[in-house]
Amino acid sequence: MKKITIAIDGFSSTGKSTLAKQLAKHLGYVYVDTGAMYRAVTFFAMKNGYITADFFDKQTLINSLPSIKLHFEFNPELGFAEMYLNDVNIETEIRTLEVSNFVSLVAEVSEVRAKLVEQQQEMGKGKGIVMDGRDIGTVVFPKAELKVFMTASSETRAQRRFEELQQKGQTVSFDEVLKNVEQRDYIDTHRDDSPLRKADDAIEIDNSYLTREEQFNAVLEMVEDVT
Ligand code: C5P
Repeated sequence: MKKITIAIDGFSSTGKSTLAKQLAKHLGYVYVDTGAMYRAVTFFAMKNGYITADFFDKQTLINSLPSIKLHFEFNPELGFAEMYLNDVNIETEIRTLEVSNFVSLVAEVSEVRAKLVEQQQEMGKGKGIVMDGRDIGTVVFPKAELKVFMTASSETRAQRRFEELQQKGQTVSFDEVLKNVEQRDYIDTHRDDSPLRKADDAIEIDNSYLTREEQFNAVLEMVEDVT
């Protein structure tokens, strides 16, 4: 079977990363979570005080971009790669609701996107990759052999994210999570640079009522069709 590039895009908490991880494991492909990279830059901006609830010093963040080094490292115990910022594992820090509340603002900045897209394209050079995000099928790999676009109702997605955060011991309310999901959808679909949209040749999956297994099997068939 020839190795291909699989682009998975869609709204927040549609189960993109679950599907992408399952596919990568099954196919022996590399999995790249591009959301983690935007979250890492956001965490960097928060840590340095460049972004707060009422202030965003975009220019200082842009000037600091050369000092941000991101890489993924596979954790065999977890079965997936974790995010490192300047050689420090920040996998836990980037999954908080606070980072989620700022990340779409950071992801609007073209200079941030240009840096991350370049690194993503480099990682995908050898094919055999499953990448998930918002602009993978439209901008990062417009020639990907398989493009999947995932949707689900905002309530379903917020419920999933709420349960995930609770399991991690974070104190959040369902309403806060729903508000965050809807706000990110709005910013992600309305920004000027690389807005979230379905690529013309992407296959849309609404997984509100699909089990993980049904969804995985459906996409695996699509992979088999193109390899
Ligand atoms: O996938 P995840 O929910 O972790 O992504 C966090 C945020 O990062 C998104 O809401 C979006 O603002 C941004 N993002 C993006 N482009 C990508 C991946 C994520 O703009 N390729």
